[in-house]
This record gives sequence, C-alpha cells and structure tokens, in this order.
Amino acid sequence: MLVSKATNRTVEIDASKVSLGSFYTTQSGWLTPEVIKFLEKALKESKGFLLDPFAGDGHLLDAVSKNKTLKNKVVKASGFDIQGTTWPINDSLLEIPNQEQAIIVTNPPYLANHSAKRKGVSSLVAKYFERSAQKNLYMIALENCLASADYVVAIIPETFLLSSFPKDRLELAVVIQAELFGDTDAPALVACFGNNERKAAHIFTGNQSIGQLNEILALRESTAPKQRIVFNDPLGRIGLRAVDGSDGKSPIEFLSAESFSYPANSVVVSSRLMTYLELPELSDSEITQVIKEANRTLNRIREASGDLVLAPFKGNDKAGRRRRRLDYALARRILNQAVKEIRK
Ligand SMILES: C[S@@+](CC[C@H](N)C(=O)[O-])C[C@H]1O[C@@H](n2cnc3c(N)ncnc32)[C@H](O)[C@@H]1O
Repeated sequence: MLVSKATNRTVEIDASKVSLGSFYTTQSGWLTPEVIKFLEKALKESKGFLLDPFAGDGHLLDAVSKNKTLKNKVVKASGFDIQGTTWPINDSLLEIPNQEQAIIVTNPPYLANHSAKRKGVSSLVAKYFERSAQKNLYMIALENCLASADYVVAIIPETFLLSSFPKDRLELAVVIQAELFGDTDAPALVACFGNNERKAAHIFTGNQSIGQLNEILALRESTAPKQRIVFNDPLGRIGLRAVDGSDGKSPIEFLSAESFSYPANSVVVSSRLMTYLELPELSDSEITQVIKEANRTLNRIREASGDLVLAPFKGNDKAGRRRRRLDYALARRILNQAVKEIRK
C-alpha cells in the first residue's frame, strides 16, 4: 500500500491478517479491578459459562480462567473462530450461537469500511458491511455479541466512546493506557455491557474514575450562539494546532497567526491537523481575547474528562502521554463559547 505519495513510500499489507483482525491480546492489562468486579457479578448472575466468539489463541479466556478472583466462578470456557483448529468454526460476524447464555468476553477484529477499501481487502469483508449500517467490523461484531448474550465484555477501540453506537446497555468502560496487543498500539477500551438499559456508564482510565459517560460527553456541548467561523483560511488570524505534538511539548492550541510557525500556504480545504481560521465579525483585540479564552476552555474540558472528549491520535508522545486530536466540530463549539465569554 502506498503511504506517502511524496516519498513513494509503501508498506506491505498482510491481507488475511488485516481482514481477520488477527491482533492478539498478549497482555492481561485489560483485566483491571473494575473489570474483574463486573465479571464476578456477571458470572454469579449467569451459569458461569464464558464464550469468546473471536477466540484466536484463547488469550482472553485464559486470562479470565486463571484470574485468582474469577477462576472458581468459571464453569466452562469455550470459543469460536473462523480459522484454525482450536475452536469450532463459526462466522461470528454473521451470527453468534449462544444457547448456554454464556457471558461473552472478546476482542473482535477491527477494520473500518474505508480502510478495507484503502488496503485493498474490501472484497474479503464486503459481505459483512452489505448487511449492516455499521462502518467498522468491530461494531458489527459488537451488535452480534449484544444480540446473543446478556453480558458482554469487549476490547474495542477507544474511539467507541465518541461514536454514535447505542450505549444504553453500557455499564462500565475502562480506557487502557498500556499496550495490550503484541503488534499494534491501537488505543483500547474495555467496554462492559449488562443485560438491561441504564442511564449512564461509569468511565475509568486504568484504575482512575473519570465520571459518567453522559457528563463527559456534555463537556463537548455548548449553547453559545453560533459565530461565523471559516476554517482552513490561509489568511485567518487564528492558528490552530489541532493535534498534540509527538515531542510532548506542543499540545493542541489556538494561537495568533503571527506566532504559529505552520506555513499558511500548506493549508488546504481538507486540512484537519494544522490550520488557520477566521472569525470575520471580530476585531483584532477580540481575536486576542478569544484565543486566550478558547485555550482556557479547551484545557478545562481536557482536564475534566481525563482527555476523553478528544479522539486519540497515533500513539503516545515522548512524555508517554496519549496524543489527541481536536475535531473541528468541537473546536467550533469552543470558539463560540469563547466569544460568548469575552462579550459577557
Ligand atoms: C483480534 S483477534 C482476537 C483473538 C483473541 N480473542 C485475543 O484477544 O487474543 C480476532 C480473531 O477473530 C477471528 N475472526 C476474524 N473474523 C472472524 C469471523 N468472521 N468469525 C469468527 N472469528 C473471526 C480471527 O481469526 C482472530 O483470531
């Protein structure tokens, strides 16, 4: 696959590995105290059966069956896979048989429909996307898991939290900071779903409680009047670094155009990471105040949400902190809010 047109750089794609999402969970860092508590309750309320419908080498079933708090409560652990000889063959992206009403513990394949096209593996997964409205294989897998079991513990991408996938059965979600997979550093989340609808899920990062999901998502909202904001304007008076730098010293920030070193002529309509923007109705002195206020709001909501209001971006920085990206919808709301504040 061509990854850089400018340098003609290519990387080799393992089509089978990509289409089957065969990235194994080699660490048990996902089994945090809160997840153990959830599984303990779920095992007690069910018959003690565990099922991984995307079982691979069986790492997840092993981790639960060997855990000192859980092992006595596991009566039987079984799995399915679409390949290999360890488990009965089942296409779990189509359906998951679960007559025993086992608790599902799984790490399904992740693959976005657009990535499948870009990586040239579309024909291998088209049949799943054709019969579902979901845009990623892990969401199709999750839909099937939730249809088949009362309790589901799934290791899925952290971006799930900001997605529109229904979260009414989500009880607990734990963001995992450590690397979980042997060969990919995709930021992961352990999502724990119960058997009935609930008002809000409790969110943790590792062992630290961050709050309720609805409170975290509310930090992204603003009722401030909408301003005219032109993004990707090379002549704009505000610079926006919309991603955390990899050096650990250049976080997401609104800056005055003069102090932003990014070349304005590199800005194009599709720019999403570094850009200039304009609020034509504001005076120069208001622009200066808005920049200050917008950074204050941004840092406040980053702090209050443990950074979960922002999508993860390409691994960790040099200081070991997960890099994040500010989407323009949220940038817009922050700027609207800033204008409201300075005009108070
Ligand atoms: C991400 S790996 C996870 C393996 C294991 N649960 C772990 O965490 O180590 C995904 C597994 O799902 C299997 N798989 C992919 N597509 C499948 C499908 N449609 N039905 C069943 N298994 C599938 C792959 O073969 C692979 O073993």
